[in-house]
Amino acid sequence: MNKKIVVLAGDGIGPEVTAVAVEVLKAVGKRYHHEFTFEYELIGHASIEKTGSPFTDEALSKCKQADAILLGAVGLPMYDNNPSLKVRPEQGLLKIRKELGLFANLRPIKLFDELLDASSLKPEVIKGADILFFRELTGDIYFGTPRERRENGTVAVDTMIYAQYEIERIARMAFDAALTRRKKLCSVDKANVLECSRLWRETVQKISSEYPDIEVTHMFIDNAAMQLIKNPKQFDVILTGNMFGDILTDEAAQIAGSMGMLPSASVGKTVALYEPIHGSAPDIAGKGIANPMASVLSVALMLDISFGLKTESQAVINAVSQYLKDGFRTFDIADSKTSKDKILDTQSCGEKLISYLLIS
Ligand code: IPM
Ligand code: MG
Repeated sequence: MNKKIVVLAGDGIGPEVTAVAVEVLKAVGKRYHHEFTFEYELIGHASIEKTGSPFTDEALSKCKQADAILLGAVGLPMYDNNPSLKVRPEQGLLKIRKELGLFANLRPIKLFDELLDASSLKPEVIKGADILFFRELTGDIYFGTPRERRENGTVAVDTMIYAQYEIERIARMAFDAALTRRKKLCSVDKANVLECSRLWRETVQKISSEYPDIEVTHMFIDNAAMQLIKNPKQFDVILTGNMFGDILTDEAAQIAGSMGMLPSASVGKTVALYEPIHGSAPDIAGKGIANPMASVLSVALMLDISFGLKTESQAVINAVSQYLKDGFRTFDIADSKTSKDKILDTQSCGEKLISYLLIS
């Protein structure tokens, strides 16, 4: 198999973690006789610095021609508390999602048993939890207009908007996924208050009649936020909108021990994009200590979803699992039981993973 991958390393720890993920892909290619070629493009602050734009049309057109996209992270603190800056790294991420029509963001939350103690939640609460989020990614208050300041800047407006077709297409995808899992789907909204959520619920109810084998529940976002840490094992597939999904999936990261472990896939009509759910972590950027697992597991999702290479995808997951079983940790998931010589930096973590991949 011959595949072209565009790498958008981005900001903060993005370049460090994607470098490891690329090496892992190369090792997979070597072991299973595939050829992966890589092209590098800019996004986020890295792109603003060089071009003035957070994501250029040239980079976008390279992405359109790729077989898959691997993204690191975007954003830096210099933008966070500076509302006067009109050009922001996050706009690059929103542009690529919108322009490539990546309307569904899949965020699997699965705990490796070895990391039971890395979470702040009790082991008995999270052991065995296995949730697949479908977060809508190109609609909602993220993209609705008008969005502006009024009354000399003293009033601000954002617009939450959903069209029925946007809800239908991601709902079908989530229902289809539920069929291959434990056949449960929970749709999360705020239908007791928001008009958008009432349309969301109505539409999901309508689609559910096409899936008689799926047990469907509807939950309000505030309750879902509580249920998720009270009893995460009650959930199988969770389907929700862009904003609610953004918030719930960060919360759910605690179920998997650390944000550093969670991959995601953004899919739509054509090329798909794979990225960790963690951000650019500027506090540790450049130190070579970031956990590259989320990026590596994003590559496992890429192999499976975009390339249909299930064995190769599983081999990557097995390597991660073996690495954890043998007691290796990056600092973010190390605890008092981790022996000092098993705390690895980003690069050594990658080398270790590749050694498992090549011998397994
Ligand atoms: C995410 C991030 C982004 C989002 C930011 C960086 C724009 O938090 O992918 O979850 O809000 O979607
Ligand atoms: Mg987020």
